[in-house]
Amino acid sequence: MSSENTTIRLCLLLAAAAAGCTKEAPSQPEGWDSAVALPPAVDLDSRAEVVEVDLTARVEEVEILPGKKTRAWTYNGGIPGPLIRARVGDRVIVNFRNELPAPTTIHWHGVRLLAEMDGAPGHSQPETEPGGVFTYDFVVPDAGLYWYHPHVDSAAQAGNGLYGALLVEDPAEPAALGDELVLVLSDIGLEEDGSLDPPDTGGNFGTLFGREGDVLLVNGRVNPVIGARIGLRQRWRLVNASRSRYYQLALADHRFLRIGGDGGLLEHPVETERLVLTPGERADVLIELRGAPGATLPVRWVPYDRGYGTAFERPEAEVFRLRLADEPAARDEPLPAVARSIAPLDTAAARRVDLQLTLQEGPGDVEMGINGVPSWKAEPIVAAVGETAVWTIENTMDFDHPFHLHGFFFQVLGEDGRPVRPLEWKDTVNVPVDGARRFVVRYDNRPGMWMFHCHILDHADAGMMGMLNVIP
Ligand code: C2O
Ligand code: CU
Ligand code: CU
Repeated sequence: MSSENTTIRLCLLLAAAAAGCTKEAPSQPEGWDSAVALPPAVDLDSRAEVVEVDLTARVEEVEILPGKKTRAWTYNGGIPGPLIRARVGDRVIVNFRNELPAPTTIHWHGVRLLAEMDGAPGHSQPETEPGGVFTYDFVVPDAGLYWYHPHVDSAAQAGNGLYGALLVEDPAEPAALGDELVLVLSDIGLEEDGSLDPPDTGGNFGTLFGREGDVLLVNGRVNPVIGARIGLRQRWRLVNASRSRYYQLALADHRFLRIGGDGGLLEHPVETERLVLTPGERADVLIELRGAPGATLPVRWVPYDRGYGTAFERPEAEVFRLRLADEPAARDEPLPAVARSIAPLDTAAARRVDLQLTLQEGPGDVEMGINGVPSWKAEPIVAAVGETAVWTIENTMDFDHPFHLHGFFFQVLGEDGRPVRPLEWKDTVNVPVDGARRFVVRYDNRPGMWMFHCHILDHADAGMMGMLNVIP
């Protein structure tokens, strides 16, 4: 008897006990992610360990509100730009062309690359002028979800639509965590006719609050629908690419299992009912959907109180919807262990960096700063490769600020001075109203000039930004 026949026999024998022998394993419904999946960047290099992509920044007409045209600023014609996928250790080459009417750069948020490739104008590279080109060429040493955005006039340029995701995969990660989806959360400010709000909308108040567009976007779509099969896990890789908006997501009767953050997997997963992402932050979450077959479940944006007036009388909003397939629940494979050993950084000999986030009094435009000094007058903090430092960021303003450091990951410390558990590598952390955050960072390598700033980009542009000079 052929082995095929044996298999069929076995199937018949076991059919009563275990359904599904001849059926394929259950999967998400056909086309489940087609309403949101990001366009992939085309890899132009045939070598397995090199990803080479073309990226052009240009103004393009896109349709965000139905039937209305928006002349947005885009990478390769879309909002967001294409999804760049690499594997940990790969070399990534990006042939960048600037066809915008303004100079720009690309910053690779979270990637531990050489300072020359960090897109910090004036420090790591010159601005790329309209019509100019620049080749970004770097290695991606850490698995995780990263993102790219301009670092010239950032609030305006990102607000106009310039951002995209870079996913660095680790083939050694446990398989079968769930069907994966990269979700770029953002917002955009549009006029009635679909045109972009001017970047200075709201004047000084706009700067102070941080400008939030009224239109919430998931991978550039308004309230799209994602298909789901009841009982099967999905793995969402999320980034908040908004210029100012905090995202707090909730889904009734469900909890998110957060397995990763800015810099890859956590020490161990944590369950959470609400998922908060400040601008710049990422989350890697698993979710198993439950409900009645055929039901539609809204994933809601819930106002997050980031200080004076920011949550006052603001309604919740639907960000996207899940449509449960009209099929009986499936049973997923048991969740494999997701853990990572992360050694706490030793703070014993750490140097101290004490910063205050400030709002300067004065006439004219709102001016913010660090230790009372706006970025354009600031002297860099000097450090040496190999040093460890504990940074204390004190907030003297009535608003939260998401603080971001380029080039290095840090570990957030609790009140007791010990790292917060589960341990995780972060590059952006929320500093609450009238509070402080401490973190420990080791300048592992890569000398050069690195920026740090509030990732409410209107605040960064108003002066809440500084530089760290790491000497070889
Ligand atoms: Cu996404 Cu300078 O940052
Ligand atoms: Cu960054
Ligand atoms: Cu801020």
